[in-house]
Amino acid sequence: MGTTTTLPPLAAVKHLHYRGKLPLSITTVVICTLAFIGLMYSETISPFTSKLKSCSKRDSVTSRSGKSHGADSDRDGDKSGYDPEMDDRFEFDPEECSVVSGKWVFNSSYEPPYTDRSCPYLDWQVSCVKNGRPDSDYQRWQWQPDDCLLPPFNPAEALKKLRGKRLMFVGDSLQRGQWQSFVCLVEFIIPENQKSMKRGRAHSVFKAKEYNATIEFYWSPFLVESNSDLRIVGDPKKRILKVDSILKHAKHWTGVDILVFNSYVWWMSGLRIKSLWGSFANGAEGYEELDLPVAYRIGLKTWANWVDSTINPNETRVFFTTMSPTHMRSADWNHKDGIKCSNETKPVMKKNHWGTGSDKRIMKVVSSVVGKMKVPVTFINITQLSEYRIDGHSSIYTETGGKLLTDEQKADPLHHADCIHWCLPGVPDTWNQILYAHL
Ligand SMILES: *[C@@H]1O[C@H](CO)[C@@H](O)[C@H](O)[C@H]1NC(C)=O
Ligand SMILES: *[C@@H]1O[C@H](CO)[C@@H](O)[C@H](O)[C@H]1NC(C)=O
Ligand SMILES: *[C@@H]1O[C@H](CO)[C@@H](O)[C@H](O)[C@H]1NC(C)=O
Ligand SMILES: *[C@@H]1O[C@H](CO)[C@@H](O)[C@H](O)[C@H]1NC(C)=O
Ligand SMILES: *[C@@H]1O[C@H](CO)[C@@H](O)[C@H](O)[C@H]1NC(C)=O
Repeated sequence: MGTTTTLPPLAAVKHLHYRGKLPLSITTVVICTLAFIGLMYSETISPFTSKLKSCSKRDSVTSRSGKSHGADSDRDGDKSGYDPEMDDRFEFDPEECSVVSGKWVFNSSYEPPYTDRSCPYLDWQVSCVKNGRPDSDYQRWQWQPDDCLLPPFNPAEALKKLRGKRLMFVGDSLQRGQWQSFVCLVEFIIPENQKSMKRGRAHSVFKAKEYNATIEFYWSPFLVESNSDLRIVGDPKKRILKVDSILKHAKHWTGVDILVFNSYVWWMSGLRIKSLWGSFANGAEGYEELDLPVAYRIGLKTWANWVDSTINPNETRVFFTTMSPTHMRSADWNHKDGIKCSNETKPVMKKNHWGTGSDKRIMKVVSSVVGKMKVPVTFINITQLSEYRIDGHSSIYTETGGKLLTDEQKADPLHHADCIHWCLPGVPDTWNQILYAHL
């Protein structure tokens, strides 16, 4: 919980901010991306529609969903006057329901199961209320997929599913947030003497003793090796990635039952990535600057090859959390006078809103590399649902270098608002609700 663990993400904040100062190149990327989305659209729609069709096989579904669902959706209908079509939604079945398409529904009577005071394992970085965030509506939005019901996170059930198992989150500070969210979602039902937490620089382990289960986090922001893993290199231009080397990290991932990976935001610190591969006699001097999506593809491919050659899918389940969007440009959601995500208290309501903080090229690389893998990888596709949540970030209610922002810093959100990380409780709880539904 000390400074070491909070430094890396802050470094990332700075770079993204830095990146925000390169409007021209970014705009080009965005325009190209948008053009590309336009092209893709007709393609992505069709498989989706067929999925929707298979989703609405009501016969197979009603028998499974039983009475509780009927009651729930009736209540939904009564309370908020939903479209009657909503009643067609069925109980979650990971094979049939996509959670990607849906909407955030506000529920003023919903209280998150933990707070940043009740859960002792949250970093200051994400403890927004403790850090002075005055509004709390952002905690009361629930994700409602269009064609099914996402089951609520049940801590006892989650722990049962983890009995005798190791669950490990691997990746960057966003992944660390998801890990802390998961721990907080279950820890309050475990008696004090039945749980423990060991925080390390790279590897942290929460233990639920009576379940013989662990919920772990392993820090490797690029998945592959770099010169900026544990000792963060502040200047992104000085970072060098060994795009074909992963064992130094991956040796810590063997023997884990459920692996949840991510890697995105650290790649976004510039347009090109200094990449190194093979064994060069001239060492770090031998790098090549590769375009970001190219370097990302090689790095992810290295990860995919490790998974395919090491993981036995009968013993280990592999998940991949897609890009966590950043909200650095309020113009993305037509808030011209806004300052980054600061002061946002409501999600974007425009269906399919997509800003400049989620790089479609990276999503495409992920789909393509994972699509060719032998070992099945389940996506926790959080990008679209999180894109809406401009209100969910730590913003100025965070810390820097181990200290809370000063009033002076808080008054300057342009330079100090963190629009990358998420408040907890908050949006990452929904990511874990999706993970839970797949366990
Ligand atoms: C709102 O939240 C309350 C408390 O968690 C819950 O009982 C109720 O069912 C929720 N309402 C809807 C419409 O989901
Ligand atoms: C506890 O879980 C580990 C795997 O995480 C397993 O190797 C070990 O045998 C389990 N111990 C008991 C007592 O079930
Ligand atoms: C996984 O289990 C299936 C069915 O039991 C078996 O055919 C297959 O060889 C196993 N795969 C591995 C890698 O052990
Ligand atoms: C944030 O909103 C409050 C109330 O709406 C307003 O008083 C304040 O000036 C806003 N701050 C910024 C930085 O926009
Ligand atoms: C995640 O969902 C988006 C739609 O929101 C889709 O475009 C993208 O291909 C999905 N990503 C993966 C890796 O499946």
